[in-house]
Amino acid sequence: SLAPAATLLAEAAAAGRALAAFNVITLEHAQAVTAGAAAVGAPVVLQVSQNAVAHHGGAPAPLAAALTALAEAAPTPVALHLDHVTEDALLRQAPAAGFGSVMFDASRLPYAANLAATAEAVRFGHAHGLLVEAELGRVGGKPADAHTPGVRTDPDQAAAFVRDTGVDALAVAVGSRHAMRERTARLDHALIGRLRAAAGVPLVLHGSSGVPDAELRRAVAAGMTKINVGTALNRAMTGAVRAHLLAHPEQTDPRPCLRAGREAMTAEVTRLLTVLGA
Ligand code: G3H
Ligand code: ZN
Repeated sequence: SLAPAATLLAEAAAAGRALAAFNVITLEHAQAVTAGAAAVGAPVVLQVSQNAVAHHGGAPAPLAAALTALAEAAPTPVALHLDHVTEDALLRQAPAAGFGSVMFDASRLPYAANLAATAEAVRFGHAHGLLVEAELGRVGGKPADAHTPGVRTDPDQAAAFVRDTGVDALAVAVGSRHAMRERTARLDHALIGRLRAAAGVPLVLHGSSGVPDAELRRAVAAGMTKINVGTALNRAMTGAVRAHLLAHPEQTDPRPCLRAGREAMTAEVTRLLTVLGA
């Protein structure tokens, strides 16, 4: 069933559980996420990044309509979230497209500018019934980013940022990095605990694909709630598609290789939800 991220996030945070959020690009990604969630009986977030919206031509509505239909038919609660939005024009399309929450990402800006832009996004979001997530401290590794693996979010600054912007959830820098191809990240679990206490809103871990299973579980135990996973699904999909096409060079129908990709993603979603106890 379609459910707002606000409800799923509040329930997970209150129970000290993880809420897994998967970045989807194709319909097969989204089918894999709802299938994996159904297999383990977990609520889940389907999220679409501004980059993925750009891939589909710049308008969020077509993919969002498909995701809404999938969510409504799913046996477990499924939320629709718009991820890493930097453009106001896209933020403004979120409510009508059917998203119940948005991550507004002004983390590339200096603190005061991040605060001002985020506060503005929160004003719009709350006026239109959206939960708003923002980022403080910059999780590195996005394309065209300078890698900043040593950056950490400061708890006092996090408290002030939440107070002054009114954000509902906070993405923090605690050692993870986007788009890692291996699970080698080490997290600062003591800092996660301090941030959870200081921020007073659910915390979000970005770049979770590069975090080993045991580190993910410890992060949740330390107070992390929303666990964002993108690259792990893409690794599963492209690996399976590549293997399938190499094994069947005569095939022209894309469906068999896309099915192989979807099955590999479903297995990864199921595995991760089990690891997280979500
Ligand atoms: O917002 C999305 C996540 O931070 C995904 O990061 O692709 O490194 O798993 P990842
Ligand atoms: Zn992210």
